[in-house]
Amino acid sequence: MTVSLKTTFTGLDFVNPFILASAPPTESKRKIMKAFEAGWGGVVTKTIGLHPVENVAGPKTIYQRASEEKPYVSRMKRPDTVSHSSWNWELISDQPLEQWLPDLKEIKEAYPDRMVIASIMAGADGEEEMQNWRKLARAVVDVGCDGIELNMSCPHMDRKDMGAHIANDEDIIRSVLAAVTDEVDVPIWVKLTPATSTLVDAAGAAYEAGASAISLCNTFPSLPLMDPETHKFEVEVDGYVTSGGLGGLAILHQALQRVSDISRAYPDQSISGIGGIKGFREAFNFIAHGAGNLQVCTAAMEEKGSGGVGVQLIKELCDDLAAYMESKGYTSIEDFRGIARERIVEHSKIRRKSEDYNGGFMKSA
Ligand SMILES: Cc1cc2nc3c(=O)[nH]c(=O)nc-3n(C[C@H](O)[C@H](O)[C@H](O)COP(=O)(O)O)c2cc1C
Repeated sequence: MTVSLKTTFTGLDFVNPFILASAPPTESKRKIMKAFEAGWGGVVTKTIGLHPVENVAGPKTIYQRASEEKPYVSRMKRPDTVSHSSWNWELISDQPLEQWLPDLKEIKEAYPDRMVIASIMAGADGEEEMQNWRKLARAVVDVGCDGIELNMSCPHMDRKDMGAHIANDEDIIRSVLAAVTDEVDVPIWVKLTPATSTLVDAAGAAYEAGASAISLCNTFPSLPLMDPETHKFEVEVDGYVTSGGLGGLAILHQALQRVSDISRAYPDQSISGIGGIKGFREAFNFIAHGAGNLQVCTAAMEEKGSGGVGVQLIKELCDDLAAYMESKGYTSIEDFRGIARERIVEHSKIRRKSEDYNGGFMKSA
């Protein structure tokens, strides 16, 4: 490989632009060490919080596959299927902060050239919760984390002052960022939910309040499918289910649109692209729409024999990106980052067969 994949993103130096997203692949010291050994440029840790966490009494994640046979999309094992999506209702890390801190220190000491971004989450209901954001931020920075990702997008919270519920509240975004930027001096990424119509405004509020990057997307709120014969959901506990998060290939196009929306609104700001990255072509598309860093979750979890950290995947991503850059004569991903931006236009700007269409507006006389 003659091309260098080194990138600088939000002031941090990455040996390559591929990192593992906050999720099971980054839930423990063992897995993060294994991921770095395999070659990942960084990790965003599984989200760390201070509130009580207890997961459902059943599987936390299912992998849904598509086939031409009925049923079309299902977790059911069938021959000749391809990956469609992950669906999960897993809460944030159930490992307490006190246990994370020595682990993070050890990881950073073992891999000083890899970026460790700590994902943190607290509530928004009052000063005590702002103190919780500060406490979490200070603790992870003190043990050497290079940056912080604020989880404002967890789709699994009953609490209305947490996760996806707060993502479009610009006042809350500003308050949390004020608390955290006041406490620590590392790049702060903000992970927003795609499930809001005010995403671009939320991103704008975050950038204005000091966010170094927006991380997008978290999973899309969604329900698992019900079997018409048995009336069982593909995953349920005692017959009940609740809204969970869809990830993987099925969300790729929707994630790209949202990255594009933010990237066109704030072309000088940074975006970490997430959602359905399984290989070079998906990663390329995120970069083409403006992302300067790429996060992967479902594809790594799905790789058999990798312990859920995508050992082959990171090798392929790096090799394929390097081969592409070499073939095009690019020396950095900056050479093609954002090339799709100006080609995303309003509907009425797309050529028609006649000149008559005016975007649905009545033409003035
Ligand atoms: C089982 C599971 C657990 C997750 N836990 C978290 C989490 O704790 N914090 C977070 O910010 N995102 C979490 N995510 C979301 C992922 O980080 C990622 O944003 C999402 O899965 C989309 O990426 P993908 O299409 O590559 O899976 C989780 C995803 C899965 C599948």
